[in-house]
Amino acid sequence: MMKRYPTLFIKPDKGSLGKGIVRLKRYKNRKIKISWDLRHRKVKKSSVWKELQKILKPKRTYLIQQGLKLAKYKNRPVDIRVYMQKPKSKWHISGKVVRVAAAGKFVTNYSQGGRPKSLKTVLRSIYKNRPRKVKRTIRSIDKISTTAAKVLNRKFPRIRQLGIDIAVDTEGRIWIIEANKNPGFMLFKKLKDKTMYRRIVKRRRYIYSRYR
Ligand SMILES: Nc1ncnc2c1ncn2[C@@H]1O[C@H](COP(=O)(O)OP(=O)(O)OP(=O)(O)O)[C@@H](O)[C@H]1O
Ligand SMILES: [Mg+2]
Repeated sequence: MMKRYPTLFIKPDKGSLGKGIVRLKRYKNRKIKISWDLRHRKVKKSSVWKELQKILKPKRTYLIQQGLKLAKYKNRPVDIRVYMQKPKSKWHISGKVVRVAAAGKFVTNYSQGGRPKSLKTVLRSIYKNRPRKVKRTIRSIDKISTTAAKVLNRKFPRIRQLGIDIAVDTEGRIWIIEANKNPGFMLFKKLKDKTMYRRIVKRRRYIYSRYR
């Protein structure tokens, strides 16, 4: 996989809160940079495995993903949390927010210091003077999230709340990083504008009063 992609993300399969994630980056001089938490180490290709064994937990299962070049805001990587809810028969996007990584971090999780920012503010800053690109990006995010919710719902008929993590890469392409059921909504509470937060809480109450 390293041959195929310049960056890899190694993540605990039952991961959470952005913990235990390791990033591998391949350089032209054949060295590999291993990054985790706020630490990193550059090693020869031949010793990557040995080094990884020191960092990864022996009894855990990991998944390896192609690393995406996340778009940046004020020089920090960002991704987008889409909060989806299905109070009745249809999926709704109750909130969308950008998560900006903390200084020096490559994960944007709130628990890792990532902080929320309005989607429009960030997209307008990334696509300066390109309002059509901003609009198109928002439309793609909505479309991919709604499709993902429907597809997951087919396999998991009981889900009513989903957090979908979406990446916009430096080329402007949209990717799904992961999806979680019953995600936290602290991010939305932290935003100055409480519209999305209130909407989420209202639908949550409805969902919890009605099902299970
Ligand atoms: N393939 C990837 N390329 C670039 N960045 C990634 C990639 N995978 C994860 N990240 C970054 O790391 C963050 C955390 O990853 P992810 O959401 O997969 O795990 P998690 O949040 O720890 O797991 P969970 O949400 O199940 O608790 C992402 O929000 C994103 O900022
Ligand atoms: Mg996540």
